[in-house]
Amino acid sequence: MAHSVRHALITGSSRGIGRGIALALAEDGVNIAIHYYRNESAARETLEQVRKRGAQGILVQADVTNPAQITSMFRTLKAEFGKLDVFVSNARPEVPEFFQGPLDITLKQWDTAFDSQAKAFLVGVREALPLMGDGGRIFAITYAEGSRTGGLQPWVGMGSAKAALESLVRYFAVAVAKRGITVNALSPGWTEDSVLNTLPEQAQQLLRNWHTSGWTPMRRLGTPEDIGNVVALLCSPKARWITGQVIYADGGASLMNPEVPAEIQIA
Ligand SMILES: NC(=O)c1ccc[n+]([C@@H]2O[C@H](COP(=O)([O-])OP(=O)(O)OC[C@H]3O[C@@H](n4cnc5c(N)ncnc54)[C@H](OP(=O)(O)O)[C@@H]3O)[C@@H](O)[C@H]2O)c1
Repeated sequence: MAHSVRHALITGSSRGIGRGIALALAEDGVNIAIHYYRNESAARETLEQVRKRGAQGILVQADVTNPAQITSMFRTLKAEFGKLDVFVSNARPEVPEFFQGPLDITLKQWDTAFDSQAKAFLVGVREALPLMGDGGRIFAITYAEGSRTGGLQPWVGMGSAKAALESLVRYFAVAVAKRGITVNALSPGWTEDSVLNTLPEQAQQLLRNWHTSGWTPMRRLGTPEDIGNVVALLCSPKARWITGQVIYADGGASLMNPEVPAEIQIA
């Protein structure tokens, strides 16, 4: 992999964490397929930043809740790149499209969550594999706190969908292991310049204060660059033995114990 130019597709790389991943890989000389849904101008901005880092890029568009559009996106990718070394499934619909508690969530919201995560990953990985040589890298961006806990009630659809996504990661990891392809889930903590910035100002401040006051032991929120760097690291041939894992990239936030009041455990 290190000897020829690598190619990556990152869904939802018009902005947020996806953009951070695109830019970190571009810095390593990887050519990037920047995927967007509606925000073409943001995708063009990512493309400009990819080129500034000396890599090449193309734009691809698809609604990831629609399998036919995923397939058509990969057709474009094959025509433009011919091969793929890295596939990152990162896109996630806007919060109002799935944000509803378990007693009220509509089946449409539920399907949006599952179609955009588990089904999109199932379809995307099966499209990506024929384009991938041995030693490829596949990532699912999850939110492991949402799949493990139940407190943030309106997250039920996305949390359940992420749990299914993490499960698929393990099954695919076994399925493609003999080709030396790794499949991992990466779980960011709360991250700046992402969906966070679309929340009401008061919610943003509460979240920032909570994390900077100690819930994240490193005392800051993550950045898209932090997450991009982890993906770049795991794309190294030296990470070839890590597969089927849910890897937390959260400055230590997942180490805190929610049963013990913060005042007692924060150092
Ligand atoms: N932000 C956090 O703090 C955080 C924490 C843990 C995990 N995560 C995970 O990280 C990933 C990225 O989150 P983010 O907050 O960076 O995202 P974001 O800033 O809200 O951006 C969402 C991305 O998904 C695309 N998208 C939206 N609906 C789509 C659809 N139906 N089909 C295809 N693409 C669609 C958007 O494209 P357009 O620009 O074209 O609309 C955009 O590129 C998600 O999987 C999320 O669950 C985020």
